[in-house]
Amino acid sequence: MKIKIETAVKSKKGLIVFPLFQENLKKLPKNCSEKVKKFVKTQVKAKDFEGKDSEKLFTYIDDQKTLVLGAGETKKISSKIARELGAKIGKSVKAHKATELTVVLHDDFECFEQEILEGILMTQYVFDTFKTLDKKKKKKELEKINLVVSKSTKNLRKSVDHAIDIVNSVDLVKDLVNSPANYVDSAYLAKEAKRIAKENRYKIRIMGERELKKLKAGGILAVNKGCNRDPKLIVLEYRGAKSSKEKPIVLIGKGVIFDTGGYNMKPTGGMETMQQDMAGAATVLGVFNTLKKLGIKKNIYGVMPVVENLVNEDAYRPSDIITMLSGKTVEVTNTDAEGRMILADALHYGSELNPDFMLTIATLTGAVSVALGDRYCGLMGNNDDVVKKFIDAGSEVDELAWQLPIHDDFRKKMDSEVADFRNYDRGTGRRAGSAKAAAFLEKFVNKKDWIHVDIGGTAFTTDPKPYEQKGATAHGLRMILKMLEA
Ligand code: BES
Ligand code: MN
Ligand code: ZN
Repeated sequence: MKIKIETAVKSKKGLIVFPLFQENLKKLPKNCSEKVKKFVKTQVKAKDFEGKDSEKLFTYIDDQKTLVLGAGETKKISSKIARELGAKIGKSVKAHKATELTVVLHDDFECFEQEILEGILMTQYVFDTFKTLDKKKKKKELEKINLVVSKSTKNLRKSVDHAIDIVNSVDLVKDLVNSPANYVDSAYLAKEAKRIAKENRYKIRIMGERELKKLKAGGILAVNKGCNRDPKLIVLEYRGAKSSKEKPIVLIGKGVIFDTGGYNMKPTGGMETMQQDMAGAATVLGVFNTLKKLGIKKNIYGVMPVVENLVNEDAYRPSDIITMLSGKTVEVTNTDAEGRMILADALHYGSELNPDFMLTIATLTGAVSVALGDRYCGLMGNNDDVVKKFIDAGSEVDELAWQLPIHDDFRKKMDSEVADFRNYDRGTGRRAGSAKAAAFLEKFVNKKDWIHVDIGGTAFTTDPKPYEQKGATAHGLRMILKMLEA
């Protein structure tokens, strides 16, 4: 995608859009042509246009497709409204099959250019990897955006590039999560991680079954036993802090290529979208895909345990007792509670990297969607200040998060009679399932600061937000990036 910043309208190709606040109707952007001014004036006079945020006027001016869009009241502008305005522009681009877009911005949009662009760019995503479209019929795509402002600044160029980089990662996560498990398997994720490492010169370490056995990563190995492909533990390392001695942040993402539930098998209806179960790992890859481009000044590890939860005669069973990487033992009371088994090993691995703090992101429970639906992800942790910071970062980027409490009794429920812990509490079942899963994870964080993001309800949607599509959402990615930037 090419985005040009200009101070006057130059191109006559494609679609031109004029977003206008109610208050701007008398004082149109200085880059409006006389014809556009006249057009708007006539409509306003006829009371056909008031600038409300749902209003749209479409016409041809000098053969160019022209859209005037209401943006509501100036004082109500926020990053959310700007992103949604961008989504409206983006959807119009698609409806009019434009390959070039010119957006003329009034000065009152200053500081919201990045969000408007994010909205435009995020709406362009289509998942058509597996459609064998004939080349000629291939849908037209937006190729170029001209952003017309009254003055071009260095900061504006930076915001524009940020929007491009962030949405590139959003698209990457969506592709990885939407793609089926017979394409995106553990080898595929490893290859993708290698590509990202090479492009950005990150250090990378990929452990397969042999190394994981040597390491004694019992949790990861147990879950993958029913699968004849290699499990992986992928570790990416980014050094962005001034001092290499600065304590790192460790980002851990659940990478279950497909979750059948194992012998505690999921029913029909519960299983069909379980290719999404590597969304946590995809998100960590998405973060690393832009870390360097965003110039984030932190040392960061990305740790991704990757397995597949299937069944065969070797698969782990309910009642098995597993010695984890930490040395603690876990009674498997439910093979469908597999995410916590692999994250526990990853957390132990992460805790030995001397972290400043650790984050786990995972499609960990269905219970979180019962509590919060697909608009809020669940946040838990052992440091309320960090949790609060994440909630704030999330609301800035419209990736909402809500804290769930880890009650001390939930911690006790994860103790076992025959081993140190159990992975599922049959007694109280799915009640408070998200928090009990977190209570289990907490046993492996070795007293480090830790935050857990349960995207079980938000990673994949049937009810997309204005700039989303059905399927993968990449929820959590922009929140983490925002937090790392702050
Ligand atoms: N991957 C699932 C959670 C999930 C379900 C994510 C639906 C997205 C949509 C996870 O491994 C799982 O099976 N969780 C169980 C846990 C239970 C057995 C303790 C759940 O939440 O039902
Ligand atoms: Mn499961
Ligand atoms: Zn799972």
